Amino acid sequence: MKRWNVVLAIIITALVIVLVTTSVISQQKRGKGGKAAKESLVERGAYLVRTSACNDCHSPKIFTKMGPMPDTTRLLSGHPAADTLPPVPKGLLSPKGWGAIGNYDFTAWYGPWGTSFTANLTPDVETGIGSWTEDMFIAALRKGKHMGTGRDILPPMPWPDYGQKSTDDLKAIFAYLKSLPPISNAVPDPISPTGEAIPTPHVLK
Ligand code: HEC
Repeated sequence: MKRWNVVLAIIITALVIVLVTTSVISQQKRGKGGKAAKESLVERGAYLVRTSACNDCHSPKIFTKMGPMPDTTRLLSGHPAADTLPPVPKGLLSPKGWGAIGNYDFTAWYGPWGTSFTANLTPDVETGIGSWTEDMFIAALRKGKHMGTGRDILPPMPWPDYGQKSTDDLKAIFAYLKSLPPISNAVPDPISPTGEAIPTPHVLK
């Protein structure tokens, strides 16, 4: 009787050791895999943003001998709210003349659609894409609708091109944008050709 007890105790102890060890190993693997996968998604998104000209229009600039370069302290925070622009001279645009003009840092644009200001793409909740979901971001770029369901997204945002990127690429871009430091910058609403502000809420309600 006693001997059986000892054998049983040994078997149970061995089983417990095996179970604990395998669960610790699998937890370590899962932990590492999850973190590494997230990091590589963000890195891929950073690469796609760097090579898709997003900074050209969405980052405020500093002036260098080479012209305007993205201000790395305010990357992708959109048209600076504090900037004021002089009025566009009347009659500048015509079908055979100028088609559109941009301001000094390419964050504001004037054309037949009115005046558009580039969005704050940092994850600030009130003024950026902090409240946006991945689905909304993908729908906005695929359909050209504000936040995926609202008004038409105005030129020169090249959503018809970016909307053709793969779902994995768009997910990576969104993951990178969400990893940026949030910057509070309330970009002005766009202005219609007749001069009225076009309401553009940035918060998901
Ligand atoms: C040629 C200039 C230009 C480039 C390049 C550009 N954008 Fe934009 N983007 C704009 C403008 C202008 C707006 C604001 C349009 C509006 O208010 O309707 C905008 C708006 C957006 C919006 C907000 C859409 C919405 O739902 O209102 C997102 C998201 C966005 N851009 C993402 C990107 C990403 C990501 C890239 C790079 C892959 C990029 N943009 C490159 C000009 C640009």
